[in-house]
Amino acid sequence: MENLVAEVTAAPDAVRDETQVPLYYSRKTADILHKYGPGPRVHFHVGLFDSGAAPNTTVSQRVIRRRLFESQEAALDHAADSWGVTGNPPGSLFDIGCGLGGGSIYWAQEHGCAVTAMTVTAKHVPVMADLVRQAGVEHLVTPVLGDIHDLCEERQYDAAVAIESSGYMDRERLFSVVAKALKPGGWFGIQEHFLCRPEWTSFIDGYYKTRLGTLSEYIDAGHAAGFELEQDEDVTDQVAEFWVQSMAWTTAELDRMARTGDQSPIATDRLVESALTHGKLFRVWRDHAVETRLLLFRLEGH
Ligand SMILES: C[S@@+](CC[C@H](N)C(=O)[O-])C[C@H]1O[C@@H](n2cnc3c(N)ncnc32)[C@H](O)[C@@H]1O
Repeated sequence: MENLVAEVTAAPDAVRDETQVPLYYSRKTADILHKYGPGPRVHFHVGLFDSGAAPNTTVSQRVIRRRLFESQEAALDHAADSWGVTGNPPGSLFDIGCGLGGGSIYWAQEHGCAVTAMTVTAKHVPVMADLVRQAGVEHLVTPVLGDIHDLCEERQYDAAVAIESSGYMDRERLFSVVAKALKPGGWFGIQEHFLCRPEWTSFIDGYYKTRLGTLSEYIDAGHAAGFELEQDEDVTDQVAEFWVQSMAWTTAELDRMARTGDQSPIATDRLVESALTHGKLFRVWRDHAVETRLLLFRLEGH
């Protein structure tokens, strides 16, 4: 990691506590594994559902869990098709804010990419390294601990992706470091949530510790760094169902605990908060107060 980040880091953000996100995710690692595991591909992002009939939720917790996983993989399949990975996979791919590396392993296993997988959460790295070993792709996936804001690589990667991680980052810095890290003609694919109605900002940012932005903020930051927006796809209606399915998993977990007396690795008050919050999130997404989009940026002039 040492060679990936500047030795002298930039002045700390005067307003934000930069330890908040790694702390939040360190505490969440076991929860994510319990809900979205066992892996080796463990994802922590929303998934795609068909816009037609919603799948019922009066099924077992195991079925719901499988469905959550399949919807997350469907989102990656969709991104791979939209961003041209399926026909023309990038040899070297930078997975920014990789979580437990589910996406990184996906890009390596399904598309043969050599992936550098970066997270700012130290606790994720050994877990991810273990999952990478289980998947048998140690030769393709390199887990790295680092803060994207401090990246100083130049012309290293054919492409970069940020799947629901850019919402934690300073967009101007993100686009500027990614522009330098990509080879000429490189592209940057983003799956993210975008604020449409600002009154929801503090509710969502408070729950997920994000700093979500607007689409125009991303486009401006991309232009300033030399990117052109090549694709912009609104998948809000296909992901809204994810909140209902996720809420069903959580209430099933609470039911299981009440029925068996077993404890969940996830704290009970977080489960209750999650069930209530996901009901709101579903309505926020259904009303397009927040939108989930897939964006494809390409470096200008190529
Ligand atoms: C919602 S998770 C998404 C994980 C993964 N992309 C996935 O789809 O499963 C957000 C991730 O962004 C990472 N992250 C947040 N801020 C970061 C930063 N400044 N530099 C690198 N990673 C960061 C967190 O550690 C976490 O792994």
